[in-house]
Amino acid sequence: MTADQRADASSLAPADPLDSRLLGRAVKRIAYDRETIARRVREMGAEITAAYPDGDLLVLGLLKGSFIFLADLVREIQRPLHVDFLVASSYGAGTVSSGNVRLVYDPETKLEGKHILLVEDIVDTGRTLSTLIELLSARNPASIEICALLHKHIATELHHPTKFIGFDAPNEFLVGYGLDHAENFRHLPYVASLQ
Ligand code: IMP
Ligand code: MG
Repeated sequence: MTADQRADASSLAPADPLDSRLLGRAVKRIAYDRETIARRVREMGAEITAAYPDGDLLVLGLLKGSFIFLADLVREIQRPLHVDFLVASSYGAGTVSSGNVRLVYDPETKLEGKHILLVEDIVDTGRTLSTLIELLSARNPASIEICALLHKHIATELHHPTKFIGFDAPNEFLVGYGLDHAENFRHLPYVASLQ
Protein backbone atom coordinates (compact mmCIF):
# COMPACT_ATOMS: atom_id res chain seq x y z
CA MET A 1 0.00 0.00 0.00
CA THR A 2 1.36 3.44 -0.87
CA ALA A 3 1.15 6.46 1.44
CA ASP A 4 -1.58 7.91 -0.81
CA GLN A 5 -3.64 4.74 -0.59
CA ARG A 6 -3.24 4.70 3.19
CA ALA A 7 -4.43 8.30 3.38
CA ASP A 8 -7.44 7.40 1.20
CA ALA A 9 -8.28 4.39 3.39
CA SER A 10 -8.13 6.40 6.61
CA SER A 11 -10.39 9.08 5.15
CA LEU A 12 -13.01 6.33 4.65
CA ALA A 13 -13.07 5.48 8.37
CA PRO A 14 -16.37 6.88 9.69
CA ALA A 15 -15.79 9.66 12.21
CA ASP A 16 -19.31 9.24 13.55
CA PRO A 17 -19.94 5.69 14.82
CA LEU A 18 -23.51 5.93 13.60
CA ASP A 19 -22.32 6.92 10.13
CA SER A 20 -24.91 5.74 7.62
CA ARG A 21 -22.20 4.37 5.29
CA LEU A 22 -21.57 1.71 7.93
CA LEU A 23 -25.09 1.16 9.21
CA GLY A 24 -27.70 2.19 6.76
CA ARG A 25 -30.34 4.23 8.57
CA ALA A 26 -31.65 1.53 10.84
CA VAL A 27 -29.70 2.11 14.04
CA LYS A 28 -31.42 4.30 16.63
CA ARG A 29 -28.83 4.74 19.38
CA ILE A 30 -25.77 3.14 20.92
CA ALA A 31 -26.85 1.21 24.01
CA TYR A 32 -23.35 0.05 25.12
CA ASP A 33 -20.22 1.56 23.60
CA ARG A 34 -17.02 -0.38 23.10
CA GLU A 35 -15.25 0.98 26.20
CA THR A 36 -18.23 0.15 28.42
CA ILE A 37 -18.35 -3.39 26.99
CA ALA A 38 -14.59 -3.92 27.38
CA ARG A 39 -14.70 -2.78 31.02
CA ARG A 40 -17.60 -5.10 31.85
CA VAL A 41 -16.09 -8.07 30.00
CA ARG A 42 -12.90 -7.63 32.03
CA GLU A 43 -14.93 -7.70 35.25
CA MET A 44 -16.84 -10.78 34.09
CA GLY A 45 -13.56 -12.57 33.35
CA ALA A 46 -12.46 -11.88 36.91
CA GLU A 47 -15.82 -13.10 38.29
CA ILE A 48 -15.54 -16.33 36.30
CA THR A 49 -11.91 -16.85 37.29
CA ALA A 50 -12.87 -16.56 40.96
CA ALA A 51 -15.93 -18.81 40.59
CA TYR A 52 -14.07 -21.86 39.24
CA PRO A 53 -11.20 -22.82 41.54
CA ASP A 54 -10.58 -26.31 40.13
CA GLY A 55 -11.84 -28.92 37.69
CA ASP A 56 -12.06 -28.86 33.89
CA LEU A 57 -13.77 -25.76 32.55
CA LEU A 58 -15.34 -25.94 29.08
CA VAL A 59 -16.49 -22.60 27.71
CA LEU A 60 -19.23 -23.42 25.25
CA GLY A 61 -20.19 -20.58 22.95
CA LEU A 62 -23.56 -20.43 21.24
CA LEU A 63 -22.97 -19.46 17.64
CA LYS A 64 -23.23 -17.23 15.94
CA GLY A 65 -24.23 -14.47 18.36
CA SER A 66 -21.59 -15.10 21.04
CA PHE A 67 -18.52 -15.15 18.78
CA ILE A 68 -17.15 -11.70 19.58
CA PHE A 69 -18.15 -11.75 23.25
CA LEU A 70 -16.61 -15.20 23.75
CA ALA A 71 -13.36 -14.19 22.02
CA ASP A 72 -13.00 -11.18 24.33
CA LEU A 73 -14.22 -13.01 27.44
CA VAL A 74 -11.89 -16.03 27.36
CA ARG A 75 -8.90 -13.68 27.17
CA GLU A 76 -9.99 -12.23 30.52
CA ILE A 77 -10.30 -15.62 32.29
CA GLN A 78 -7.12 -16.42 34.20
CA ARG A 79 -7.27 -20.22 34.51
CA PRO A 80 -6.97 -23.25 32.24
CA LEU A 81 -10.01 -23.83 30.03
CA HIS A 82 -11.15 -25.38 26.77
CA VAL A 83 -13.39 -23.75 24.17
CA ASP A 84 -16.02 -25.34 21.97
CA PHE A 85 -19.14 -24.12 20.23
CA LEU A 86 -22.64 -25.18 19.52
CA VAL A 87 -25.12 -23.89 17.02
CA ALA A 88 -28.77 -23.65 17.89
CA SER A 89 -31.13 -21.94 15.55
CA SER A 90 -34.35 -20.27 16.67
CA TYR A 91 -35.02 -16.93 15.03
CA GLY A 92 -34.69 -16.99 11.27
CA ALA A 93 -34.84 -13.48 9.87
CA GLY A 94 -37.44 -11.98 12.21
CA THR A 95 -37.12 -10.00 15.41
CA VAL A 96 -39.54 -12.18 17.39
CA SER A 97 -38.65 -15.57 18.85
CA SER A 98 -40.25 -18.39 16.90
CA GLY A 99 -39.84 -20.85 19.74
CA ASN A 100 -38.34 -23.52 17.49
CA VAL A 101 -34.93 -24.42 18.87
CA ARG A 102 -32.85 -26.66 16.64
CA LEU A 103 -29.33 -27.97 17.34
CA VAL A 104 -27.45 -27.48 14.09
CA TYR A 105 -23.95 -28.22 15.39
CA ASP A 106 -23.29 -30.41 18.41
CA PRO A 107 -19.92 -30.04 20.20
CA GLU A 108 -17.44 -32.89 19.70
CA THR A 109 -15.94 -32.38 23.16
CA LYS A 110 -17.08 -34.77 25.91
CA LEU A 111 -19.10 -32.91 28.54
CA GLU A 112 -19.11 -35.57 31.25
CA GLY A 113 -17.48 -34.43 34.52
CA LYS A 114 -16.69 -30.95 33.17
CA HIS A 115 -17.79 -27.53 34.33
CA ILE A 116 -19.76 -26.15 31.38
CA LEU A 117 -20.02 -22.41 30.93
CA LEU A 118 -22.62 -21.72 28.24
CA VAL A 119 -21.90 -18.36 26.66
CA GLU A 120 -24.85 -16.59 25.05
CA ASP A 121 -25.13 -13.16 23.47
CA ILE A 122 -28.56 -12.27 24.86
CA VAL A 123 -31.31 -13.94 26.87
CA ASP A 124 -34.72 -12.95 25.53
CA THR A 125 -37.55 -15.47 26.08
CA GLY A 126 -35.03 -17.99 27.45
CA ARG A 127 -36.35 -20.76 25.20
CA THR A 128 -33.03 -21.43 23.50
CA LEU A 129 -31.19 -21.83 26.79
CA SER A 130 -33.80 -23.84 28.61
CA THR A 131 -33.85 -26.37 25.75
CA LEU A 132 -30.05 -26.50 25.64
CA ILE A 133 -29.65 -26.86 29.41
CA GLU A 134 -31.99 -29.84 29.35
CA LEU A 135 -30.15 -31.41 26.46
CA LEU A 136 -26.65 -30.85 27.86
CA SER A 137 -27.53 -31.86 31.44
CA ALA A 138 -28.30 -35.36 30.15
CA ARG A 139 -24.57 -35.72 29.36
CA ASN A 140 -23.60 -35.59 33.06
CA PRO A 141 -21.40 -32.49 33.29
CA ALA A 142 -20.07 -31.54 36.75
CA SER A 143 -21.98 -28.25 36.47
CA ILE A 144 -23.70 -26.00 33.93
CA GLU A 145 -23.82 -22.23 34.26
CA ILE A 146 -24.95 -19.54 31.87
CA CYS A 147 -22.98 -16.45 30.98
CA ALA A 148 -24.86 -13.87 28.90
CA LEU A 149 -23.59 -10.51 27.73
CA LEU A 150 -27.14 -9.14 27.81
CA HIS A 151 -30.25 -10.17 29.67
CA LYS A 152 -33.68 -8.66 28.98
CA HIS A 153 -35.16 -10.13 32.20
CA ILE A 154 -38.38 -11.08 30.45
CA ALA A 155 -37.60 -14.79 30.22
CA THR A 156 -40.51 -16.79 31.53
CA GLU A 157 -39.29 -20.13 30.23
CA LEU A 158 -35.83 -20.26 31.76
CA HIS A 159 -35.77 -21.86 35.20
CA HIS A 160 -31.99 -22.13 35.39
CA PRO A 161 -30.47 -18.92 36.85
CA THR A 162 -28.12 -16.89 34.66
CA LYS A 163 -25.05 -16.78 36.88
CA PHE A 164 -22.99 -14.26 34.91
CA ILE A 165 -24.72 -11.27 33.28
CA GLY A 166 -22.97 -8.44 31.49
CA PHE A 167 -25.78 -5.92 31.30
CA ASP A 168 -29.50 -5.78 32.14
CA ALA A 169 -30.72 -4.95 28.66
CA PRO A 170 -33.69 -2.80 27.67
CA ASN A 171 -36.56 -4.63 25.98
CA GLU A 172 -35.53 -3.40 22.55
CA PHE A 173 -34.06 -5.20 19.58
CA LEU A 174 -30.30 -4.90 19.91
CA VAL A 175 -27.59 -5.45 17.31
CA GLY A 176 -23.80 -5.37 17.11
CA TYR A 177 -20.89 -7.01 18.98
CA GLY A 178 -22.08 -10.33 17.54
CA LEU A 179 -25.83 -9.73 17.63
CA ASP A 180 -27.59 -9.59 14.31
CA HIS A 181 -30.76 -8.64 12.58
CA ALA A 182 -31.17 -10.92 9.55
CA GLU A 183 -27.36 -11.49 9.70
CA ASN A 184 -26.56 -7.77 9.49
CA PHE A 185 -24.71 -5.63 12.06
CA ARG A 186 -22.75 -8.45 13.79
CA HIS A 187 -19.47 -6.61 13.12
CA LEU A 188 -20.33 -3.39 14.94
CA PRO A 189 -17.87 -2.89 17.83
CA TYR A 190 -20.70 -1.68 20.09
CA VAL A 191 -24.29 -2.72 20.89
CA ALA A 192 -26.97 -0.54 19.34
CA SER A 193 -30.74 -0.40 19.37
CA LEU A 194 -32.63 -0.85 16.11
CA GLN A 195 -35.40 1.47 15.03
P1 IMP B 1 -34.53 -16.64 23.34
O1 IMP B 1 -34.55 -18.11 23.08
O2 IMP B 1 -35.85 -15.99 23.06
O3 IMP B 1 -33.98 -16.27 24.69
O4 IMP B 1 -33.62 -16.01 22.23
C1 IMP B 1 -32.25 -16.04 22.31
C2 IMP B 1 -31.61 -15.76 20.97
O5 IMP B 1 -32.41 -14.90 20.15
C3 IMP B 1 -30.31 -15.02 21.20
O6 IMP B 1 -29.24 -15.92 21.27
C4 IMP B 1 -30.21 -14.14 20.00
O7 IMP B 1 -29.55 -14.82 18.96
C5 IMP B 1 -31.64 -13.88 19.59
N1 IMP B 1 -32.09 -12.57 20.12
C6 IMP B 1 -32.95 -12.35 21.14
N2 IMP B 1 -33.11 -11.03 21.36
C7 IMP B 1 -32.35 -10.41 20.45
C8 IMP B 1 -32.05 -9.02 20.16
O8 IMP B 1 -32.53 -8.06 20.79
N3 IMP B 1 -31.19 -8.78 19.14
C9 IMP B 1 -30.60 -9.79 18.41
N4 IMP B 1 -30.82 -11.08 18.65
C10 IMP B 1 -31.70 -11.39 19.65
MG1 MG C 1 -29.21 -14.74 16.81
